[in-house]
Amino acid sequence: MTKRRRILTVGGAGYIGSVCARALAQAGFDVSTLDDLSTGHREAVTGTFYRADLLQPDQVAAVFADARPDAVLHFAARSIVGDSVRQPLDYFHANVTGTLNLLMAMRASGCKTLVFSSTCAVFGEPIRLPLDETHPCAPLNPYGHSKHMIERILTECREQEGFSVTVLRYFNAAGATDDGALGEAHSPETHLIPLALDARFGRRPPLSVFGTDYDTPDGTCIRDYVHVEDLAEAHRLALLRLLDGDRGRAYNLGTGRGTTVRQVLDTIAQVTGAPVPAHDAARRPGDAPALYAAADLAREELGWQARRDFRDIIRSAAAWSESPRFGR
Ligand code: UFG
Repeated sequence: MTKRRRILTVGGAGYIGSVCARALAQAGFDVSTLDDLSTGHREAVTGTFYRADLLQPDQVAAVFADARPDAVLHFAARSIVGDSVRQPLDYFHANVTGTLNLLMAMRASGCKTLVFSSTCAVFGEPIRLPLDETHPCAPLNPYGHSKHMIERILTECREQEGFSVTVLRYFNAAGATDDGALGEAHSPETHLIPLALDARFGRRPPLSVFGTDYDTPDGTCIRDYVHVEDLAEAHRLALLRLLDGDRGRAYNLGTGRGTTVRQVLDTIAQVTGAPVPAHDAARRPGDAPALYAAADLAREELGWQARRDFRDIIRSAAAWSESPRFGR
């Protein structure tokens, strides 16, 4: 029997990381998880758990000595755009320094295979849509800059340090696992779908619709919502390709379809049987009017495409919102 490949998920107690870690374990990988639990949840962890802080190189080295991974999936980051504007140094320190510490530990241990979680925020305000991988990067905030800086570092690692690295730029990750075991549990919550579901079920005040005068069909922002289980499948495919000898590159991961904020609220109303209490509010600083992906490259090279549609996202998110397994 061939040896099971050991995968370390860094930030694997968080929303996307935990779903990917579990999917990889189900696909036969030997999964362990490094997380500092600053935003993640112990209940969400798959496999051996190492509580460690990326800003403490000794702790990271100790995890590598014990876990001896064949490949790393790096999800850990601070990711609230508004906070990044107010605390840029903290964001650059956590995201960039944390990743540098991880890369140094990887190099020292001889593990040079990495899948990195990036974001459509690296593009900034689109000059054309849909966003493909050739679109220029001009981030609008320190969060996006931190991810873009890391992408740059990773390109050097691929070209000069012998790393194989795939960068996955998520558009708007959403939804919960089909079995209801894992879902979104941020504190504070800032994302549209969980906030709208909480408003629908009376757990929070009515939703503020940030901006109703954008140049979009109904005046509200367009985003490309992609199911978190579809993202997990993209990680599995990207990892297999790297383990097969590919050196990696960046892929945009979205559905290619844009959905306005009002369409999100309408679909929640249809799926749950009652409207979402909401009121119009001012634009949120830093929001691009429309962001949606061209996911052709991921389809052509990874054989990936999103399988779940927007109603699947809302159905799973609504089920999770009514009975989350942790985080409330
Ligand atoms: N929105 C509202 N009301 C709310 C919350 C959000 O109207 O209470 C709107 C936003 O203005 C935006 C849309 O809903 O138009 C989606 O907002 P989210 O906060 O859910 O998601 P973002 O598109 O802002 O953020 C996502 C990721 C970030 C990433 C960003 C890149 O969550 O990590 O995409 O643009 F940085």
